[in-house]
Amino acid sequence: MLEITLDFDYGNEEPIYIQLYTFFKKEIQTGKIEPGEKLPSKRKLSHHLGISQTTVETAYEQLLAEGYVESVERKGIYVRELNRDLFLHVDDVPKIIKEINDESEQYKVDFSHGTVALEHFPYPVWRKLTIHGLFEEQSSYFLNGESQGELPLREAIAKYLYQSRGVRCSANQIIVGAGTQYLIGLLTMIIGRDAVYSMEDPGFHRTREAFKDQGVILKPIPLDHDGIDLNHLVESKAKVTYVTPSHQFPNGMVMPITRRMELLQWAEDEGRYIIEDDYDGEFRYKGTPIPSLQGLDNNGKVIYLGTFSKSLIPSIRISYLVLPNSLLEKYNQHYIIYKQTVSRLHQHTLWQFMINGHWERHLNKMRTVYRKKQATLIRSIEKYLGEQVTVIGDEAGLHILLCIDNQLSEKELIERAKAYKVKVYPTSVYYNNNQPEQVPNILLGFGGLTEEQIEQGIRLLKEAWRI
Ligand SMILES: Cc1ncc(COP(=O)(O)O)c(C=O)c1O
Repeated sequence: MLEITLDFDYGNEEPIYIQLYTFFKKEIQTGKIEPGEKLPSKRKLSHHLGISQTTVETAYEQLLAEGYVESVERKGIYVRELNRDLFLHVDDVPKIIKEINDESEQYKVDFSHGTVALEHFPYPVWRKLTIHGLFEEQSSYFLNGESQGELPLREAIAKYLYQSRGVRCSANQIIVGAGTQYLIGLLTMIIGRDAVYSMEDPGFHRTREAFKDQGVILKPIPLDHDGIDLNHLVESKAKVTYVTPSHQFPNGMVMPITRRMELLQWAEDEGRYIIEDDYDGEFRYKGTPIPSLQGLDNNGKVIYLGTFSKSLIPSIRISYLVLPNSLLEKYNQHYIIYKQTVSRLHQHTLWQFMINGHWERHLNKMRTVYRKKQATLIRSIEKYLGEQVTVIGDEAGLHILLCIDNQLSEKELIERAKAYKVKVYPTSVYYNNNQPEQVPNILLGFGGLTEEQIEQGIRLLKEAWRI
């Protein structure tokens, strides 16, 4: 019989059968009990460990249910052959968790651009609406919904887009989906993988990879002061182009109306389309609002891409496409076969959130919150970093760029900031060739930081960069 030495912890809340099951599981996963070995009989083990046979039986049943062991009739219970490489070594788990914690604990201030002001997220309202959704019309919400997304939610989005972003569309043109990258994949299938695609360079790296993974030809198009460079776009012979006109990602310029009109003119040719990613257009701090490209388009050439990741919370994973009618036809002919990727319950909660006025209130509040945070950031930069840095792209959105002319490379700036426990981000990753600018631009997101943290972070950067 196997030598089993095991001290139960009777003071522990964990039942004895779980302790026994966990012991065997660990021994099997780490190879201390090998495949083909027989486990002791229930009677012998219960006697050996001084516990009841039922306790042993329950532990064995769990091991059987999870496939660690098998029962051979009239012979006993044997350890199964397992691919141990698939298991994370049990002893490593605390270490890995610790390493992850250590990584986040390393920083006092993290200027991430992917976070939002969670302290202002209306949890009580969201919780109430979610719970309500669970009770209301229970039966239907647990079945598949519409491929395009729930119609009432699409109607609410269409209304909001018209009022706030000048987007003209009906609910029929909206396709809800779990994130920008998923929607880019779907869109590439609808437009066709044989078209030549292009996008801003620098541009959103996640979109770039999503295009590349679709196997399409993707041309990087440089920027000028106003956004995507039209001469290069024409030369590229691309049919489709992806832009972020409300707040270029990452450089932050807002595309002026003249460039918008020129771009729309470019798109007039047969088969051409513009993908307008309006990811954080809700937050504009300077100048008069410029209508979305979609709102200026009279020829059905703009595909509008929106998201709730910045304006609400990123984890909800609700984004959407607004298709022009020509592409909507293609979608309906074939791609409607793809089921909706966003949970019906989340859609229901968001719909309720929108139609009951919470969304508008939340947006208005967040505009003030982010305006204040951005003002603190700019003020702190002026106060601590002064003339050696230039702020880029502060007209809108939840991030800015800092151009730092003190002979340090992008990598050095990031490493020095890290030594002072401040996390700042590179912009080289947004270039097609991953090369940093000669005078580096560092990306600073501020949405998830308090005003105190923002000021503290910039003060530390002054010391780190010795400015
Ligand atoms: C340029 C850009 N587009 C879209 C998104 C949002 O992506 P998703 O809708 O997948 O959350 C972001 C978020 O960081 C972004 O920076």
